[in-house]
Amino acid sequence: EKDKELIRGSWESLGKNKVPHGVVMFSRLFELEPALLNLFHYNTNCSPTQDCLSSPEFLDHVTKVMLVIDAAVSHLDDLHTLEDFLLSLGKKHQAVGVNTQSFAVVGESLLYMLQCSLGHGYTGPLRQAWLNMYTIVVAAMSRGWAK
Ligand code: HEM
Repeated sequence: EKDKELIRGSWESLGKNKVPHGVVMFSRLFELEPALLNLFHYNTNCSPTQDCLSSPEFLDHVTKVMLVIDAAVSHLDDLHTLEDFLLSLGKKHQAVGVNTQSFAVVGESLLYMLQCSLGHGYTGPLRQAWLNMYTIVVAAMSRGWAK
């Protein structure tokens, strides 16, 4: 319940500016794991990385990711209602070649983005609250890999 307050409180401002925050998150992700960039087929021929990051399709995916996070924040009291959606979202990511191990790096990038945008507001308990929610979301997505 303290977790939920921390998440809702921080998302209140971040959620108003989803795309720029999502771009920070994914820039970090591609810095940590550049090979993931190749999974976005529309990005195959762009270099430097910065050009890829500003392509409309990429920004579209960033928007989609932020909307999933937004949905999770709105459903903190009943995250299980997103189960079917997240399972099928996981299946789609398996189909495009994402590895479940990469979700840990996505989580790190999410925390990095929170740290950048919240500054002193980024506390130990807040970090843990986000990590807990993120873990539930990716656990549900990862079930999409099973048969
Ligand atoms: C679709 C890649 C993580 C949400 C896609 C697509 C690709 C992709 C290639 C299909 C093309 C497109 O729609 O742009 C990745 C990679 C990830 C990642 C490489 C990092 C490992 C995530 C995460 C979320 C997410 C963490 C949300 C929590 C979505 C959504 C779609 C999508 C909502 C659209 C699915 C649909 O068409 O119904 N992703 N993704 N992605 N991704 Fe990701």
